[in-house]
Amino acid sequence: MDNRAIGVFDSGVGGLTVLRSLIEHFPQESFIYAGDTARVPYGNKTAATLQEYAAQCTRFLTRKNVKLIVVACNSLSATAMDTIANIAEVPVVGVINPAARKALLESPAGHIGIIATRATVRSRAYDTALRSIAGSESLHILSHACPLFVPLAEEGFVQHPATELIANTYLSPFRDVQTDTLILGCTHFPILREVIAKLLPDVNLIESGGAAADEVQQILASKAAFSDLEKSIINVYLSDITPSFKAIANRILGIQPNKVEKVTFS
Ligand code: DGL
Repeated sequence: MDNRAIGVFDSGVGGLTVLRSLIEHFPQESFIYAGDTARVPYGNKTAATLQEYAAQCTRFLTRKNVKLIVVACNSLSATAMDTIANIAEVPVVGVINPAARKALLESPAGHIGIIATRATVRSRAYDTALRSIAGSESLHILSHACPLFVPLAEEGFVQHPATELIANTYLSPFRDVQTDTLILGCTHFPILREVIAKLLPDVNLIESGGAAADEVQQILASKAAFSDLEKSIINVYLSDITPSFKAIANRILGIQPNKVEKVTFS
């Protein structure tokens, strides 16, 4: 048994979609969420900058004595996993491999689309993961960067006409190639899920959260490291407490965190 918290981090509110899924799967676990809201978006930055930010957030969570770290950010999972693993003294779960595995399990014909940030698309991390997990199976993969989805999600423009307009432009290539399964390869994108589903009604949408929870389950089980606390604690640390954060966090999580505190990641 291990009553330490699970650390989860992202550039902003996107990782809360992963946290929500983790809370649903592990109601007895405590969580420490780190959101680098002062520097969001991450997805347009270079790999070198993302590695530096990832190192700072990982050091922060390590100082908080977490028992496991979930990198609830595709852009960091695609570019900085080695950096994170070298600093963390605990197991680290990224979101790319779990989502790729889930997409392959659920795709009927191997026509898989990926929408993500520029950093994730540029890294080709999903292509690599999908092809290495699938082996010789034939796949049709199409990736498309959708950077404007991140500020729209941060703004809470969930059902906004601007979101529909931009989504229509971003998603049209997937209609042309008969995509059967679309990976929401950025943890901000499930916030816009309804608009995406409306425009691609027959496409199976894969989110990072549920897929990562399965991997967390395996690690905690193999180490017998589940918590047995009667009441779990959810603490949120942000590099900037933006006015919109609380509203959108409540909408995503459906519960109030025990604490929201401003910190510097270093
Ligand atoms: N939510 C993150 C991701 O999954 C980062 C998005 C951003 O900050 O650009 O890629």
